[in-house]
Amino acid sequence: MDTQIDGQEQEPQLERVAIFEGLDPASLIQLRQAMRRRTFRQGEVIFHRDDPGQVLYVIKEGRVRIRLTSSEGQEVALSVFGPGESFGEMAILDSQPRSADAIAVDKVDVYTLQRQDFIGVIKSHPEIAIEVMKTLSQRIRLANQMVEDLIFLDVYGRVAKKLLELSKDYGVETEDGVRIDMRLTQQELASMIGASRESVNKVMGYFTDKSYISTDKHKITILRLAELRKRIY
Ligand code: CMP
Repeated sequence: MDTQIDGQEQEPQLERVAIFEGLDPASLIQLRQAMRRRTFRQGEVIFHRDDPGQVLYVIKEGRVRIRLTSSEGQEVALSVFGPGESFGEMAILDSQPRSADAIAVDKVDVYTLQRQDFIGVIKSHPEIAIEVMKTLSQRIRLANQMVEDLIFLDVYGRVAKKLLELSKDYGVETEDGVRIDMRLTQQELASMIGASRESVNKVMGYFTDKSYISTDKHKITILRLAELRKRIY
């Protein structure tokens, strides 16, 4: 059930939400009053691709995976959003159905804003439109990068590139190399790079045999960064 935001302790800290940055305090309060709060359990579907979409979501807590799934069940993660980020703007802006599934990665707390309220705040504060366009531009950039990788890199190259990216974001130096400090299954890795679990399994086996990486309890350590880097170009 939706709950109206009513108390200070439930404040969504909207000034920290990228698309609402720069709104004056009075407008933030007005926006808060129009928002409702919802909670999703870990793994719960927030919406499916092709559902009709009438609300914008702003994440307060937790992470949300945006994904596409083939009829055979193979999935590709387009993005993972966290606190302060928003999603679900596309269906609102172009009046088409949802373009992808949204799944709660953890327990997720969101605020929802109805289409007419979102459009209303954009009309009264056109600077929000600039922030929304900025966000959309960044997403198109990343989507272009994904298309480029899918076309120009084989699965070896895509796995190597993703491991190096993850080591930048989550890497911890160890005696042996750089450990990626997040639990990552082969299925999750496969969905990040748009490949099947079987092909990622083959690549991980090859990289392990070559001592480029080692894996312990779903945590991957990169032993030879330079060798992995060579696989990308
Ligand atoms: P909407 O189409 O309403 O529902 C799915 C949401 O996922 C979409 O709005 C965007 O907020 C988000 N989304 C869709 N495609 C991408 C992408 N390629 N990168 C990041 N976010 C996306």
